[in-house]
Amino acid sequence: MNLAVRRFMAAIDGVGGLGAELLKAKMAGRWQDGVPLSQAPTYAEWKAFNAKYPYGSREWIDAATSFGFADDIDGAKCPVTSHIRRANTRDMLDPLWDTDKKSRMGSALNNRRRILRRGLPYGDRASPDHDHGIVLLAHCANLFRQFEFVQQQWMNYGLDFNAGNDSCPIVGTHVPGARFVIAGDAKSGKPPFIASGLPHFVSTRGGDYFFSPSMTALRMIGQGVVDPT
Ligand code: HEM
Repeated sequence: MNLAVRRFMAAIDGVGGLGAELLKAKMAGRWQDGVPLSQAPTYAEWKAFNAKYPYGSREWIDAATSFGFADDIDGAKCPVTSHIRRANTRDMLDPLWDTDKKSRMGSALNNRRRILRRGLPYGDRASPDHDHGIVLLAHCANLFRQFEFVQQQWMNYGLDFNAGNDSCPIVGTHVPGARFVIAGDAKSGKPPFIASGLPHFVSTRGGDYFFSPSMTALRMIGQGVVDPT
């Protein structure tokens, strides 16, 4: 962990309990146990969510995964440029988001960008100078349309989110002065908050692409068949 990141994390922790917890949740789009801000935007609603659905149960998983952003287009609940909102835009980019639910095109624009992923932590997080990090395994059918698109267009640009040059607060490239905007809430009168001077949290150490053949492709290889297309 470099000095700038350590300073930023110390500053967040200095804010104390709930403030720090909320800022981290706003950056990710989920509370630390995975409950989405879209379903539980405040601390009280987070606790109520977990009281209603036993943690890890089918109901909990359904409620934590089946939600959209079209009812929160300004990001008052979940910031428009938070990590999960960039990574999986759900119904947010639907051109008909403000019409009634039935006439919407659903998440067609987003579905072609979806990836399966698993993060594998390595190293000792407790030791700040130790070599540690996360191996991200992303599985998709088309690298260009899925992984590379999400990484480049959604994590590192702000255009689709009307967010100017802001990149993802967690994995984006952060130039000096990088910011993360937490929208205000017109309903409650809460003003917006701008977290400025974000350090660069994630440095890529390496990466590789692997071909994982489908069952059809394995059969064809086994039969020695060459696909003429
Ligand atoms: C060190 C780098 C990264 C960290 C620490 C990180 C962290 C997280 C966290 C905390 C979540 C929310 C919990 C969850 O759903 O599992 C998440 C979700 C996700 N991340 Fe990342 N992430 C990283 C890199 C990436 C990259 C490079 C991509 C894609 C290019 C990506 C794509 C996603 C997706 C698709 C989701 C699920 C969104 C949803 O809930 O609908 N992440 N990540």
